[in-house]
Amino acid sequence: MVDELLLRKAEYLVQQNLPLDELLRRVVALLHLNLHHYDWVGIYLLQDNELVLHNYMGDPTEHRRIPVGVGVCGTAVAEKRNQIIGDVTQVENYLACSLDTKSEIVVLIRDKDTIYGVIDVDSDQPDAFGPDDESLLNAIAHLLADRLRRERHSSDRLQPSSAEQTR
Ligand code: SME
Repeated sequence: MVDELLLRKAEYLVQQNLPLDELLRRVVALLHLNLHHYDWVGIYLLQDNELVLHNYMGDPTEHRRIPVGVGVCGTAVAEKRNQIIGDVTQVENYLACSLDTKSEIVVLIRDKDTIYGVIDVDSDQPDAFGPDDESLLNAIAHLLADRLRRERHSSDRLQPSSAEQTR
């Protein structure tokens, strides 16, 4: 079952008309602090042909810029489909962030054919993610895509290069 309460909280955040950077940080925190199997949560935004880490919670990662097609995140964008990896050791081009990570889900932030980025979640438990996680993250990604689409039409600039660890 999709976590309706978390989804309502995400909707509430979007309705607050927060600056985009703050909204993205709060969404990452919402997921990381409320779902115990979400050991690392980050949002990457697509800039040119690279995914650029906007913010995250969890262990620091060296993968702040990921070319499309590389790793699980880059594969999601290249193939235009979400990725659910039950055992990361089985993925040839997996980019390791922590040796503790056992499984991963990457959900596209997209509006029809336009991909704005991905929500990336790692778990220290094997096979931690299923259809409920994908549904929840899809719904949240949809809310973010809507905001990013509107943002693209405004003069506001995104600041993914700040890539701070949210605390
Ligand atoms: N595992 C991801 C890279 C992101 S780090 O895990 C935080 C990948 O393979 O694309």
